[in-house]
Amino acid sequence: MTASRTIARDLLDWYDVHARVLPWRVPPGSAETPDPYQVWLSEIMLQQTTVAAVKPYFEKFVARWPRVADLAAADESEVMAEWAGLGYYSRARNLHAAARRLADDGFPQTETRLRALPGIGDYTAAAIASIAFGQRAVVVDANVERVVSRLFAIEAPLPSSRPDIRRHADAITPDERAGDFAQAMMDLGSQICTSKAPKCLLCPLRQDCVGHGTGEPETYPRKLPKKAKPVRQGTAYFVEAGNEVLLVTRPGTGLLAGMRALPDDGWTARSDGSGRAPIEADWTDCGTVTHAFTHAKLELRVRKAHLPRKPAIDGKWWPLDRLNDAGLPTLFVRAAERARSEDAAAQAETHDGDQTDDQTEIAPTVRP
Ligand code: ADE
Repeated sequence: MTASRTIARDLLDWYDVHARVLPWRVPPGSAETPDPYQVWLSEIMLQQTTVAAVKPYFEKFVARWPRVADLAAADESEVMAEWAGLGYYSRARNLHAAARRLADDGFPQTETRLRALPGIGDYTAAAIASIAFGQRAVVVDANVERVVSRLFAIEAPLPSSRPDIRRHADAITPDERAGDFAQAMMDLGSQICTSKAPKCLLCPLRQDCVGHGTGEPETYPRKLPKKAKPVRQGTAYFVEAGNEVLLVTRPGTGLLAGMRALPDDGWTARSDGSGRAPIEADWTDCGTVTHAFTHAKLELRVRKAHLPRKPAIDGKWWPLDRLNDAGLPTLFVRAAERARSEDAAAQAETHDGDQTDDQTEIAPTVRP
């Protein structure tokens, strides 16, 4: 048997025993067939997001929209709000656009036709084709890149090693059970062949792993040093009137497009924090929250004001006691928590003189 075939067989044998139980997954050996809608939904959610973070969202989505036609019939704003907290919001907009096409035309079964759908790139097309439709496809995500880089001790650094990684991944992908093989690679990467401290003693591929043979498997994949992300600065405004707070909907393009948000000073367009408040008011500074986007880091100052009456201004006044249902992205959940912790601090000061530390960043507690 060739080394590639041994690798596939050993990995599938391991998967038959150790496959993770996941809500979108059909266990190996089951008579059930995967539901393409659930496979597609899970793969979109899992782009750049961990299995642990995705699980509750996946369950919420399939409970609310059990079939692709249900999702297609939903309002885009409802889908965006249900996605809030999961990040990379263009995925939700693309998901909804793709659902409308899928509901009309049915699910395409080939990689090429899947790739034509909004939000589906090479990785996702290959994952859906293999997992949902049993087609042989070469599925390469970050886990697979790590496993393959170690298996073959690839010396070139990422990203230039990608063509080589793909060639090796192709060579070890079997003709049969390609979907199980892809999921087995992902499970191996997340459970055994981890970035730090890989558990080589438990690895079914140890015998064939050149990286293991070097004695330093954790040094693969080689990587070029990361460039520091540029820092943007901006201000978000927590405008209260009575028991309500002013929320806006962000523009349809750019960062956090189409999401409900706190009004801000236009930091998306002006990165130096020199923008203006949406209205004149007596603002209290509530500190700063930081957030990492893909290409930039944001330092968002939070200011608040309590107005005696609602001004005529674009936006929606939202009850403070239902703010958790507003579908705010995590950045604004944290900004709102920071503004509201000022209330709590002020109250504590009046009652017992407690102090808060303005520099402490509040961890997101409302959503993961
Ligand atoms: N990460 C991305 N897709 C996955 C899947 N289908 N199973 C486990 N982890 C994944």
